Amino acid sequence: MTSLEIKPDKAHIVILSGAGISAESGIKTFRDSDGLWENHRVEDVATPEAWHQDPELVLGFYNARRQQIRKAEPNPAHLALVELEKAFQVTVITQNIDDLHERAGSSTVLHLHGEILKARSTLDARLVYNLGHNDIHAGDICDKGSQLRPHIVWFGEDVPMYPVAHEITQTADLVIVVGTSLQVQPASFLASAAPAHIARIVVDPKAEANVPAFYLRAPAGEALPKLVSYLLEHGISD
Ligand code: APR
Repeated sequence: MTSLEIKPDKAHIVILSGAGISAESGIKTFRDSDGLWENHRVEDVATPEAWHQDPELVLGFYNARRQQIRKAEPNPAHLALVELEKAFQVTVITQNIDDLHERAGSSTVLHLHGEILKARSTLDARLVYNLGHNDIHAGDICDKGSQLRPHIVWFGEDVPMYPVAHEITQTADLVIVVGTSLQVQPASFLASAAPAHIARIVVDPKAEANVPAFYLRAPAGEALPKLVSYLLEHGISD
């Protein structure tokens, strides 16, 4: 997704989602796991330095995560966001690399940090390939002959989709932040990129009051279906 057509007849709800929305699907969040991802330090598997030092370790880590995500199913929180589309224009901007929003049925999903089901060239970031659930191995090459890597934004790398996400968020009539600790930049800036006069709702059982917002401190799978029912019944201006 590179741009968005705004529908003038519908209010636009922008969802900023993070790992917490997939927690009830059995995918661990990052900062609830003692800083370890499946027993790896982030810097050993999710940085350009890690890739240079030990590409096979990095490939193995993401291959395992791809298989884990394959077995996960969308939960009531993902499904509730699809219901919202009955009355609103909805754009999901997610930091998640899983495909649970798409599998639930959300029509417009922007992945800020990449997608685990895709690979890209190490030579040319524009060469992106659909992997499905296949692994990437050392020796798998792109059309230009260079090694494939996961299509993931690692720590220390640019976030190419950020400008698009920023522009979209500026057109929001309501922002719902769900399941993200908002600790990683630039994603964390998006909550405040929305127009100053609109409402922000944060859904997160352990949310700290970092941004001015209405806080629903409950698991997304419980809170979002209720919030969505309310919005469908009352609209966003009540
Ligand atoms: N429902 C809603 N929120 C939940 C739930 C739940 N069931 N369970 C946990 N959470 C919340 C946690 O309280 C926490 O605030 O989800 C948030 C998850 O925060 P992080 O683990 O920091 O995940 P996220 O914000 O998505 O991380 C951002 O950091 O590691 C990088 O690139 C990676 O995209 C990731 C980015």
